Amino acid sequence: MACIISLTKLINIFPIFIFVSCFPPLMLSQSFRSLQLPPKVTGPESIAFEFGTSRFYVGVADGRILQYNGPRVGFRDFGFTGPNRSKRMCDGTTDPNLGPICGRPLGLAFHYSLNKLYICDAYFGLMVLGSSGKQATQVSAAADGEPYRLCDALDVHQPSGNVIFVDSSANYDLRNISKAVNANDSTGRLLMYNPDTDRVTVLMKNLSGPAGVAVSQDGTYERPDNIKRTAFGDFWRAAALVKQPTRSLVPIGQRINGFGRVLRTVNFEAWYGNQLISEVQEFGGELYLGSLSAPFVGVFRF
Ligand SMILES: *[C@@H]1O[C@H](CO)[C@@H](O)[C@H](O)[C@H]1NC(C)=O
Ligand SMILES: *[C@@H]1O[C@H](CO)[C@@H](O)[C@H](O)[C@H]1NC(C)=O
Ligand SMILES: *[C@@H]1O[C@H](CO)[C@@H](O)[C@H](O)[C@H]1NC(C)=O
Ligand SMILES: *[C@@H]1O[C@H](CO)[C@@H](O)[C@H](O)[C@H]1NC(C)=O
Repeated sequence: MACIISLTKLINIFPIFIFVSCFPPLMLSQSFRSLQLPPKVTGPESIAFEFGTSRFYVGVADGRILQYNGPRVGFRDFGFTGPNRSKRMCDGTTDPNLGPICGRPLGLAFHYSLNKLYICDAYFGLMVLGSSGKQATQVSAAADGEPYRLCDALDVHQPSGNVIFVDSSANYDLRNISKAVNANDSTGRLLMYNPDTDRVTVLMKNLSGPAGVAVSQDGTYERPDNIKRTAFGDFWRAAALVKQPTRSLVPIGQRINGFGRVLRTVNFEAWYGNQLISEVQEFGGELYLGSLSAPFVGVFRF
């Protein structure tokens, strides 16, 4: 990987862009499968596994949280975020302007001991769902008097139950990301919700397009983009290679250690083309891939 020459700043929910002067070897494997979402449904941005099972949950573009029950049953409705969401209007929609009604769940993570599923919804802020699913409850919509405009990613510190989450901008919502980038918006915040006190603390502010967070085993948090902890204390992040000379983007996943050193790079171009991925999560010896636009969850065995 001597080809990697620079990392740009993190841009909202877009992956990290890695500029290369040459192209790293393709790591082709036969063992890629895609778990298809229901018809017309796209954008499984984030993936959360239930503790001790292989069942997982994704938030999708039409505002639902779907539960995956293995290949025979597939995905089925579990919950939703928009308090006024109707299935008739929202199911299957990809119209971003319905987001403020239908909701757009982005980050997902369990607090395992209480079996609570926390959700970062782009339009409704920090929310939580119990084991029976259905309508999520809003936990927090603002901190220090300032509303969230684009709740984007979260992680739970399991011993304390604290939720570390990211609001990408105080000015621009999900539909206006390109405007935020053009304006060099730097109103993103890193926040912490304490369920014992029911209070949110601002940990960092004036961040430029923060888009991910992961709590490490010792409770410190990492703030690169679209990042997920592994069972061994390393992390996987979703990123994009910029192929020269065309400058086309190629989705990759990188395993990195707690110091940010890249341990492994996997190229997903063969299955995603130029479509970017938003998350790489290791489970049972496989990588589960989230995406803002794909109609499936990718599973890569390595
Ligand atoms: C839901 O509908 C009620 C009643 O029309 C309205 O007062 C409320 O603002 C709506 N909430 C959202 C989030 O759209
Ligand atoms: C974002 O975009 C939508 C429609 O594209 C617009 O209605 C909204 O006011 C915009 N502004 C902000 C600050 O997000
Ligand atoms: C944003 O930053 C870039 C690079 O630093 C600069 O060229 C551009 O003028 C800035 N745009 C705004 C709207 O401040
Ligand atoms: C810092 O963020 C706050 C909102 O949290 C915003 O009001 C302020 O303008 C930001 N400052 C800069 C320099 O972006």
